[in-house]
Amino acid sequence: MPLLVVVGCQWGDEGKGKVIDCLAHDVDLVARYQGGNNAGHTVIVGDRRIVLHLIPSGILHPQLKCLIGGGVVVDPQALVEEMDMLAASGIEVQSRLFVSETAHLIMPYHRKLDHMMEARRGENKIGTTGRGIGCAYGDKVARHGIRMHDLRDKDQFVKKVKTFSPFYQHLFQSYGEDVWKVDEVVEEVWETRDRILPLVVDGVSFIHEQLSAGRRVLAEGAQGILLDVDFGTYPFVTSSNPSPGGVCTGLGVSPRQISKVVGVVKAYSTRVGAGPFLTECAEPLNSQIREWGGEFGATTGRARRCGWFDCVALRRSLQIGGITNLALMKLDVLSNLPEIRVCTHYLLDGRKVEILPFGVETLSRAEPVYETFPGWNEPIRKVREFDDLPPQARNYVKALEDLVGAQMDIVSVGPDRDETIVRDKEIFHHSL
Ligand code: GDP
Ligand code: IMO
Ligand code: MG
Repeated sequence: MPLLVVVGCQWGDEGKGKVIDCLAHDVDLVARYQGGNNAGHTVIVGDRRIVLHLIPSGILHPQLKCLIGGGVVVDPQALVEEMDMLAASGIEVQSRLFVSETAHLIMPYHRKLDHMMEARRGENKIGTTGRGIGCAYGDKVARHGIRMHDLRDKDQFVKKVKTFSPFYQHLFQSYGEDVWKVDEVVEEVWETRDRILPLVVDGVSFIHEQLSAGRRVLAEGAQGILLDVDFGTYPFVTSSNPSPGGVCTGLGVSPRQISKVVGVVKAYSTRVGAGPFLTECAEPLNSQIREWGGEFGATTGRARRCGWFDCVALRRSLQIGGITNLALMKLDVLSNLPEIRVCTHYLLDGRKVEILPFGVETLSRAEPVYETFPGWNEPIRKVREFDDLPPQARNYVKALEDLVGAQMDIVSVGPDRDETIVRDKEIFHHSL
């Protein structure tokens, strides 16, 4: 069963968009399984830079189809805007994009509530993307959600919005916020309905038909395992399961159908928003790495926090992710540094800790312990074979591999498709 998963192994923005773009030529269907338009996946096509938030990055490959799975939360306005953006770039979307009927809608009140809650969290602010993601997932779990299939019948749709509205009216009032009108909410969503409804399918049958016909499917992860609501640095996480478990619930496939899991990691660490980040660099290095790596959010434009590679964090992701291949991204960004640090373990209450502990309070007592490696101080973007990298760069990669016990099968040395060293060519042959 050729079902390949691409998953971020840190706190998001590892370069999943580029990896998916590199793998997609050998794929028939790319499916998003969780998250929503909090994601920002960058793909460089020639001299164009395209950022996808909701539509799978595979859409840029004209031969394949794309599915937004039932585990995704969909902001209908954002979806239509993205379809328009792609159409304006000459990319055919309407006939190639499918949306699962069980995907929940991000309603206008979810976006507003996201901002209201953040404003009231004070120093516990999560630093969400403000897209209403957590509030839409909250309603899904509370069984107050509205799903794609509800767009089929306006009376039913209005009835649902009316049923849920008193809860929200009450909440907004108690926060001293403007109460919203049911009609306005309905109209805002309904404006997009004729564009979206033709794409709505039974997403589970759709993907199973594809798999049964021997088509190659790539499941596109958003965010990263350390932002997973169950396994990440809770509560500083997103509200879904980016880890491969989310593939099964988000697409309705069995774990037995997953053939490969490609984990994507940056050669250093970044995080956007609040939350524990033990290897975060002090200034001015933090800003320098941000500038070299262009570390500004692809969705919100926020400055990403930058720090050293954290083996303790990656070991947790490898434990959860069942990763079969690793892709190490942005090695070129470290080219200016005289020396590079890697966190090998933490010290916690005098004990050595090798795997990321759970609990923010526990993490606040942990201290990172580093090993320092010499830098290479020369550009590497033109290198295409691992053996042609400067010896210090090879040593750095090999040291990471030894420290986490996994091989880096892809080493990326620039944002472009061809700025890639592929050490295990098998990774590109998806027909297993
Ligand atoms: P994603 O969310 O995991 O898809 O990652 P983002 O698109 O948010 O951020 C990754 C950024 O790094 C994008 O601007 C990519 O174009 C860029 N990028 C990806 N791989 C490389 C690389 O190897 N080197 C450099 N310098 N940039 C890269
Ligand atoms: P991609 O797919 C990096 C972060 C937010 C915030 C936390 C919760 O591009 O890697 P949310 O809006 O999801 O409730 O915010 O999660 N976050 C991301 N950080 N990359 C992402 O996506 C992210 N999506 C959400 O910054 O800290
Ligand atoms: Mg991103």
